[in-house]
Amino acid sequence: MSKKKNRPRQLSNPQQQAQGRPQQQAEMAAEPMVRKTRIFVPRDAAALSMGADAVAKAISAEADKRHANVEIVRNGSRGMLYLEPLVEVETDDGRVAYGPVKPADVAGLFEATFLKGGSHRLSHGLTDEIPYFKDQERLTFARCGITDPLSIKDYRAHGGFEGLSKALAMMPLDIVGEVTTSGLRGRGGAGFPTGIKWKTVHDTKADQKYICCNADEGDSGTFADRMLMEGDPFCLIEGMTIAGIAVGATRGYIYIRSEYPHAVATMREAIRVATKANWLGRTIQGSPHDFDLFVRVGAGAYICGEETSMLESLEGRRGLVRYKPPLPAIEGLFGKPTVINNVLSLASVPIIIAKGGEYYRDFGVGKSRGTLAFQLAGNIKQGGLVEKAFGVTARELIEGYGRGTRSGRPIRAVQFGGPLGAYLPDDKLDTPMDYEAFIKVDAMVGHGGIVVFDDTVDMAGMARFAMEFCAIESCGKCTPCRIGSVRGVEVIDRIIAGIERDQNIEVLEDLCNTLTDGSLCAMGGLTPMPVMSALRHFPEDFNRPARAEAAE
Ligand SMILES: Cc1cc2nc3c(=O)[nH]c(=O)nc-3n(C[C@H](O)[C@H](O)[C@H](O)COP(=O)(O)O)c2cc1C
Ligand code: SF4
Repeated sequence: MSKKKNRPRQLSNPQQQAQGRPQQQAEMAAEPMVRKTRIFVPRDAAALSMGADAVAKAISAEADKRHANVEIVRNGSRGMLYLEPLVEVETDDGRVAYGPVKPADVAGLFEATFLKGGSHRLSHGLTDEIPYFKDQERLTFARCGITDPLSIKDYRAHGGFEGLSKALAMMPLDIVGEVTTSGLRGRGGAGFPTGIKWKTVHDTKADQKYICCNADEGDSGTFADRMLMEGDPFCLIEGMTIAGIAVGATRGYIYIRSEYPHAVATMREAIRVATKANWLGRTIQGSPHDFDLFVRVGAGAYICGEETSMLESLEGRRGLVRYKPPLPAIEGLFGKPTVINNVLSLASVPIIIAKGGEYYRDFGVGKSRGTLAFQLAGNIKQGGLVEKAFGVTARELIEGYGRGTRSGRPIRAVQFGGPLGAYLPDDKLDTPMDYEAFIKVDAMVGHGGIVVFDDTVDMAGMARFAMEFCAIESCGKCTPCRIGSVRGVEVIDRIIAGIERDQNIEVLEDLCNTLTDGSLCAMGGLTPMPVMSALRHFPEDFNRPARAEAAE
């Protein structure tokens, strides 16, 4: 389990943050005597989808009407998506939260003296004390929702660029060593040790190397990459630059799915701001290190999240999986050694370098070190992002933070790790979130996506959906996946219809074994996981005639 002693303290009050920072104190002393009240309204896509822009506009208009001296900061999301748009007001005691706020609530909030943290039916008290938020262990998301995402000053005031400043003075191999010590494993799903990948690229000689960030985030129920890019883009920039220094790469690409226009715009602007401030570009902060960063927008295929397919897409071709070897670490983008990491793997690096690999390793259990941003989605009362050390149980997340289903009905199944992950029944929810513990129950943690279903779910339908998803998204390069998935849908249809059930279940098992053993990549290789887990844990759903008879 994680150790309490080294927890980062989240300071949301600027007076607290400025302690021990003489330069900042001087800046604060120079501020006008009448301080503006800072109001935070998220610019995160989830908050925007719930009307955050209209709320910000309404607050601004109401403040003008009342001659109130306010500054509206468009921050990232705190991750409590069930409260979005979550409006926070900065008070002497810290930030006070109100949500979900609608434009029509704004006049009432002013009446209730919310600028002083006054009570209102939408008030949740101090944000840091909200139970959903209070016990989280925010390492990667420490700044998300706290800072103005595009302010370098704000970023630095909250520990930003401490890792990179250190890295600029370190030997590349020592940086790789810290990442290895941290125990960081790829957050994109496969959980491959990041330090080993970086060492391979470091050791491979080449005139050009690349850092590619995988921000395709195609898994169902996941949004952590997006939240990080929209809420703390400099953190990803910092992590990628550190990776560049560590392995000797001078160019980086962030491959963002086309469905994330806000993340694309935020990252592009953050790169511009960071380059202007010389945290990117030539001779970074007077060091001998150069690093340039570019955003590329994906073309909307799930398979483009598979790393070699992503490379094809980055090079301007259709997303088609490449044979391995050669590994991308040896021959990746444009045939050059390439680090490919997920957004959250790279965004975990700044704190690892700033505080040391051992600090990060102190969180977690077994071989799952550090924290993971768990994403609670589907039929859940309190959906959102919970960053916790590995070892927290699925039930603690779903029933503790998530408060069970939104429908109020019993939980029947939970899918972990995206569309290729297993469906687990209620009696497996005490499994700790740990890569190895999940393998033991024939499931995977993946990118931390958790999608909840209540007792109205038809699990045969979900199994069919998983197989059909593979048939639709298959890149078509290998036969087991391209043809096997289409046959799989047909077989499942026969099982559901009660046609030669036993024989067809045997055919399905056989087909799934072929997909697992014979597919070129994990798309075909893992599709059997949701299919077979549904059949194993919920066999009663696969016999519709029998169910219909029983219901009569
Ligand atoms: C079908 C498929 C889709 C994938 N989608 C993503 C994705 O959206 N984002 C991601 O980071 N990794 C994705 N991966 C995993 C990547 O291939 C790769 O393992 C990862 O980007 C490596 O980074 P990491 O070691 O930091 O996790 C996918 C893999 C497969 C097989
Ligand atoms: S398993 Fe599917 S997605 Fe992967 S290479 Fe084969 S056909 Fe393409």
